[in-house]
Amino acid sequence: MKPTMPGVPGNFSNALDSPLPSVQGSCPVIKDVDIAELEKILQGTGSLLRSPEELLAYSYDASRGRTPADVVVIPDNAGSVRDIMRFASKRKIPVYPRGSGTGMTGGSLPERGGIALVMTSMNRILDIDTTNLTVRVQPGVILDDLKKAVGEKGLFYPPDPASARFATVGGTVAVNSGGLNSVKYGVTRDYVLSLETVSARGHIMRFGAATRKSVTGYDMVHLLVGSEGTLAVITEIVLKLLPRPSRVETLLAAFPDDMSALRGALDIVREPLVPSALEFMDEAAVQCARSYTGNPFLEGAGGLLLVEFDHTGFHAGKTESGQLVRCREILGNAGMLRIEQTHDPLERERLWEIRRCLSPAVYDFGPTKKNEDICVPRSEMPFVVKEIKRIAGERGIRVVNFAHAGDGNIHVNFMYNGEDEGETARTRNAVEELFRLTISRGGTLSGEHGIGRTKSPFLPLEYGIQERNLMQEIKNLFDPDGILNPDKILPRDEEYR
Ligand code: MLT
Ligand code: ZN
Repeated sequence: MKPTMPGVPGNFSNALDSPLPSVQGSCPVIKDVDIAELEKILQGTGSLLRSPEELLAYSYDASRGRTPADVVVIPDNAGSVRDIMRFASKRKIPVYPRGSGTGMTGGSLPERGGIALVMTSMNRILDIDTTNLTVRVQPGVILDDLKKAVGEKGLFYPPDPASARFATVGGTVAVNSGGLNSVKYGVTRDYVLSLETVSARGHIMRFGAATRKSVTGYDMVHLLVGSEGTLAVITEIVLKLLPRPSRVETLLAAFPDDMSALRGALDIVREPLVPSALEFMDEAAVQCARSYTGNPFLEGAGGLLLVEFDHTGFHAGKTESGQLVRCREILGNAGMLRIEQTHDPLERERLWEIRRCLSPAVYDFGPTKKNEDICVPRSEMPFVVKEIKRIAGERGIRVVNFAHAGDGNIHVNFMYNGEDEGETARTRNAVEELFRLTISRGGTLSGEHGIGRTKSPFLPLEYGIQERNLMQEIKNLFDPDGILNPDKILPRDEEYR
């Protein structure tokens, strides 16, 4: 954790081992005497786990990397988190905050051993305020539980990543999760009003205010959201809420090929229409969904769009909206083959299954997945999708693309055999070319999964030395001992080659 970093690398060969390499031969950094002190800090209110099975349970995330901590600590209040950070900073022990481990970039993996700081026991919804339209929560609340609890009061918390049933709110704040309705509602950062955090040296600090507006001082809240546990530990969150939509119209449209589906998506966003979801699936994704769900609607389709319009208020139509009617017309002009539409909640779930099944369904195309989440200007999607197919095709790898098309956020799933060294190396190389392509078209490495560990070696493709040095200085200010989730976001020195 040096204050400056060397120049732009030309070689990313370490970056893409999938699963992530375990840290070999790392010595436990916590001694028995320390354990006794940690136990004293928790005073019987949290848990401390040390058996190999327990360490294993907190050693991985959805990236499939696996590196166990030396000890797992599960605090249940901010005071304990403060004392744990004081303990760790005195001894320079790395601390890895985490929620339920749904992250896709190895962002919470305890690669250097130390303490896995599991926030899932701080899981209370503290207050739902129906006048100020805010909710105050602890970080370990499961996102879907929060959405249901506010929904029961007629309110709506929009961020909706695919992992909402398992992900903790704290985790989604740490990576600034997006999701299926970002096209209309934006991402997690747009809803965080204030944060209680514990600093690396163990000070409880509050930033922001539970008000609709605040321009007091530097905007630390928006810096901390998306900082992936590298700057502070989040112990309490105040989120902004909206009134719950009372009617949602869902439309599933089949196209003969990818390009006509993407043309339809771009024609929609050029109009004064405000879809609350605009999802694209390419031909390979349609094939995977077809064999997974057996849904006959997908027969003969070479591209798919799933579009939604939601409506709020007492008069939110009993009949179909003008937006839906216009959307259907646009998709017809783009070459749509057929359509299904509904506003019935159960029917909607049936249509959404086609999109939601994709994460597991893509394994039809290969046993190992390298899943990226690049984001490009929407207008670049047709070119980029074509190029992705070329990149994969030239290397003999299969690729499945699906996208939050309204955001230009493409999930590129390279499917390969991780046991095959040649294929693994070609996939690694394909990912590097994908990232170079993305940047060359004005895009960004990650639209929603974060940088974590799997993408950190590529950060120099997007940010030059000056920008990275400034980021490193910010990191050093927040975390002078370099103990908070080290090696994440900003790459290790040896990765600059
Ligand atoms: C999604 O949109 O389904 C998620 O971001 C997860 C994924 O990329 O598989
Ligand atoms: Zn996504």
